[in-house]
Amino acid sequence: MEPPPPPPHQKPPPPKRAAGRNRASAKVFSQNAWDNAEWTDDAEANAREKVGFQAQNPVPVDQRNVYSECANEFWDKFYSNHTNNFFMDRHWLRQEFPELFKPIDGSSSTNPDGSRKTVFEIGCGAGNTAFPLLAEDPSMFVYAADFSSTAVDVVKKNPAYDESQCKAFVYDVTSKAGVPPEIPPGSVDICVCIFVLSALNPRDWEQAASNIYNILKPGGICLFRDYGRYDMAQLRFKKGRLLDDNFYIRGDGTQVYFFTQDEVAKFFGRFEVVQNVVDRRLLVNRSRQIKMYRVWMQGKFRKPLVESIELSSVSNQNVEGDDFEAKETYAS
Ligand SMILES: C[S@@+](CC[C@H](N)C(=O)[O-])C[C@H]1O[C@@H](n2cnc3c(N)ncnc32)[C@H](O)[C@@H]1O
Repeated sequence: MEPPPPPPHQKPPPPKRAAGRNRASAKVFSQNAWDNAEWTDDAEANAREKVGFQAQNPVPVDQRNVYSECANEFWDKFYSNHTNNFFMDRHWLRQEFPELFKPIDGSSSTNPDGSRKTVFEIGCGAGNTAFPLLAEDPSMFVYAADFSSTAVDVVKKNPAYDESQCKAFVYDVTSKAGVPPEIPPGSVDICVCIFVLSALNPRDWEQAASNIYNILKPGGICLFRDYGRYDMAQLRFKKGRLLDDNFYIRGDGTQVYFFTQDEVAKFFGRFEVVQNVVDRRLLVNRSRQIKMYRVWMQGKFRKPLVESIELSSVSNQNVEGDDFEAKETYAS
């Protein structure tokens, strides 16, 4: 029923407001960042609209393959320009991936059988993970590989590079040749993939997953952190950047994909899932009253101690080399 009209000398009462929501949004702008941010319907609608616009203005079909065919050259150029001044050391590593570090009680980080803990950083870039790790625990051995030879040179020139603790080499994780010759197959305790799988063309995921699987020892674990669907970096892409669904080309020619949890689960389908989570953070621009979401995927995937017969025959074939199947947009 309509409310009765107000007496003529009175102003009508203001429309009813969603007082709680207003208070909440005022609170949102009271600080610069929020962890575990809630993903709202508005944010989803805004993201879908932006991605829809990108999809209407993709990279022309005849230009799409160019970037994947010489992807390493674009990264070479990137590291020639930035050397080791671009990515920050990953100081959150201890909090998110304690598996990499010595137990807090100071006991040894060697494996139960007394062997040295072996870590393989795939897509190591300038070594922003490898060097902080070694600084914390010089007793481990770190393999650090990247398909950009310029990045590998940057790692080798770092004064902290010491071949008794670390070996840097060129390796493409999508290589059909399988495990790199520098590493005995099935020998690595921990593979680290930090903002590298997003750089791959999705058509190469299966080969990359197979290679990671074959590099790890049974019971070994792959630690993964990367971009999630509708991260701020995805929504910032303008016209002429979309290569394929959720896969883009940056201004410098490097490629980037934005994952969902299901896609991450599919990528690591042969592994046991220890963790597969979405980490959302809300950043706010207080003066412009703008909200921006960072969305990161984080996962831990274990190679089973005992492989099924079917999988083990596939992985053996692969080990032998059979054919098996601009700054603002980078990670912080
Ligand atoms: C966004 S950077 C991250 C670098 C480093 N992981 C870090 O967190 O600082 C992505 C890195 O992956 C490397 N990369 C891309 N595709 C690769 C591939 N197929 N095999 C090995 N490395 C690759 C690039 O050269 C680049 O160094």
